[in-house]
Amino acid sequence: MSESKEKAGLSRRSFLGAGAVGAGLVGAGLLYRAIPASGDEVLYAIEAPGTPGGGEPVPVLSYARTPAAPAALPPVLDVRQGDTLSVHFHNAMARSTTVHWHGIRLPIAMDGVPFLTQNPVARGEAFHYRFAPPDAGTYWYHPHYASLDQIGAGLAGILVVREADDPGYDADIPLLIRDWRRDEKGAWLPVSDPEAAGRAGTFGGWHTVNWEREPHYQVPSGSLVRLRLCNADLTRVFKVVGKGAPAILVAVDGHPLVAPEPLQRELLGPGMRMDVVVRMPDNPGEVFELHNVSSSTPWVMMRLVSQGMSRRRALSGIVPLPPNPVSMPSVDRAEVIRMDFNAGLGEGGAEDALWSINKRAWVERYPEERDGMVLPVLPGQSFPEVRAAVCGGGTPLAVLKQGRSYILELNNFTPHLHPIHIHGLAFSLLSSSRRSIRTGHFTDTALLLPKERMRVALVADNPGDWMVHCHIIEHQAFGMMGTIRVDA
Ligand code: C2O
Ligand code: CU
Repeated sequence: MSESKEKAGLSRRSFLGAGAVGAGLVGAGLLYRAIPASGDEVLYAIEAPGTPGGGEPVPVLSYARTPAAPAALPPVLDVRQGDTLSVHFHNAMARSTTVHWHGIRLPIAMDGVPFLTQNPVARGEAFHYRFAPPDAGTYWYHPHYASLDQIGAGLAGILVVREADDPGYDADIPLLIRDWRRDEKGAWLPVSDPEAAGRAGTFGGWHTVNWEREPHYQVPSGSLVRLRLCNADLTRVFKVVGKGAPAILVAVDGHPLVAPEPLQRELLGPGMRMDVVVRMPDNPGEVFELHNVSSSTPWVMMRLVSQGMSRRRALSGIVPLPPNPVSMPSVDRAEVIRMDFNAGLGEGGAEDALWSINKRAWVERYPEERDGMVLPVLPGQSFPEVRAAVCGGGTPLAVLKQGRSYILELNNFTPHLHPIHIHGLAFSLLSSSRRSIRTGHFTDTALLLPKERMRVALVADNPGDWMVHCHIIEHQAFGMMGTIRVDA
């Protein structure tokens, strides 16, 4: 697409950028963004007072483009499919961290897993993340270091990979969905309750979208609006419905559905995303709402409000997004690898293991820190030694040969849901022991229902040691975590 054609396309479309959210800013909330040909970003992790969900300021962690920024919603990073995203990351927090690019098929050295793919970025240190996302869609970024504390305190932002050809929606609104562990007065509650950690996990009571309670955004009447939902919550599996206007699900976890379909009580587990296109009502002031109905008391997540003359867009304008370049697994010849997800520890598991994969528990444990600097586990221990100590011993759950197809049989032996996420590879869902599932598209997370067995298929085309873990962060932190190795 030529420069001028792209600019023309973009001036039709609005893209909601960070810093322009919230009911108070709605009039000016839709920004026309000038998008650079290739993303070159500076990103800081900061500790500062912030007001996620409102109330009095509390100390939060966030990402920002300048170190002195007040702590607000982390910026929406965006890059065009195939272009290079270059992020000069600086850690301005008094603790170590890393940045993981959730769902992106990238080189292992950019994956942001401490000790496994890089050393932690200590206070005052920097790391240059640089990769070209092959797949368009909605992704996100978050630390993979002390995840419970750091994501819990605010570190999670959206990464949009734009289609090479603009699909032509009238507005594009990323929605970072999460709860916060704050009490009625707004004070922080402990991020994890030890008893809940061994069950469904610890829930937050402050429900937000883009760090606001029930935000609303004004969009043109009769327009087609792309919503990019990202569940950045540590715990909650949302069940999402749309009210007031037709809403069509077009992509899941970044990857397009083969055929768009009406949004119907769609489960969105921690870490998962979905792209929904809404055909706004024709009359100004008419409203579309997203509701969460996963709990006995449903709530409104956010609203869109029609504004101005109707654009009279046709629902039939919602066509499948172009497929991403993911290799199709050849299922008949695939080797089957079994993964059992259990409560409790396996033999030799650590005593604080509440969860396991194949009877092995990797509990998220970190070396001591002093003044934001990581100290080796034992005096004089080198990082490879630390790595062996903190990375579940470092032995992968399975070793895959590059280029081959595999079927993973995921067995949930627990009475809880587990969104099982795999780094660096995209897979397709084949079958479930409990329900008919949507197939044909790719994804990075399999949401296992209680006692469900699911088969998924992938081509092991990206070499490295890739994390496999539940994205309910307490399950991850307390043992439901491991790696699969793709041998070059
Ligand atoms: Cu959101 Cu290990 O990932
Ligand atoms: Cu889990």
